[in-house]
Amino acid sequence: MTHEPVMLNEVLDFVKKNSHSRILDGTLGLGGYSEGFLKNFPDSFVLGLDRDQQAINFARERLKIFGERFAAVHKNFGELENIPNIKSFDVYAFDLGVSNMQITTPERGFSFQNDGPLDMRMNPDDESLLTAREVLQRCDERELAKIFWDYGEEKFSRQIAAAIKKSRKPLNTTSDLVNLIRETLPQPVQRKMGTHPARRVFQALRIYVNNETQELENLLKTLGNFHHDALIIFVSYHSIEDRLVKKNFREWQNENKGKILTRHPLTPTEFEISQNYRARSAKLRAFFIIRY
Ligand SMILES: C[S@@+](CC[C@H](N)C(=O)[O-])C[C@H]1O[C@@H](n2cnc3c(N)ncnc32)[C@H](O)[C@@H]1O
Repeated sequence: MTHEPVMLNEVLDFVKKNSHSRILDGTLGLGGYSEGFLKNFPDSFVLGLDRDQQAINFARERLKIFGERFAAVHKNFGELENIPNIKSFDVYAFDLGVSNMQITTPERGFSFQNDGPLDMRMNPDDESLLTAREVLQRCDERELAKIFWDYGEEKFSRQIAAAIKKSRKPLNTTSDLVNLIRETLPQPVQRKMGTHPARRVFQALRIYVNNETQELENLLKTLGNFHHDALIIFVSYHSIEDRLVKKNFREWQNENKGKILTRHPLTPTEFEISQNYRARSAKLRAFFIIRY
């Protein structure tokens, strides 16, 4: 498994300039950020959260060399307020979206490049989540088109939704869906896309399946009620997420809760993008809550 934490240097720079004895890594993933914190700030304690048990197991094993300086909990950041002592941290960092492990494990069903069941749940133990296959079955054509447009900005959202509903073949696997999208999009369009024809639909389904926008809203609501000195950092990959973070930071600043540290979002260097394709759409925003 490769670890290429996105914009880690920029994240570390913000943390370095502020108190950082207790750091919350709210999206542990493969543990890339947590490892960066533990190595660079030898007096810190880091708590990692992830809604994916596989990520927790993987990062725990990888970071066990740090002993009691690191702990990991299987939690959804949308329920942050239920974590004991959650207000005792100096830094709260969130690197949104999917991890490399989720994408590269075909059985999880996130990947349009490998065949697997159409699942996409980040937490398969969460009974409230439908799989991507169930979403395709249960939503009607209009709902599907809206999902593909809202969360994927897919221009052919209506055509793809119609093809899904008309399909005689059951859509059980990622390949079934990729093939249907390939058959639906006009060939010249596919040639000009410069990206995989199924990328947008897969992204949209993943965001919908995991209720990602709502979880982010819940998280921002909790953070917005904090009253202690705290650095908050978000790295997001999608305009919906970035807009939500930006809007909340603006509101907090207008309410005199603290200050925005990034007037414009930071983006990765050309070099990082050349090394790590996933970094290309990243946007980093930071806020400092001042005790009130
Ligand atoms: C981009 S990865 C994080 C990568 C990590 N920064 C690293 O360097 O290895 C995002 C992680 O956040 C987790 N995640 C997404 N939404 C979450 C939520 N609502 N609560 C907790 N974890 C979440 C995903 O399961 C995934 O493991």
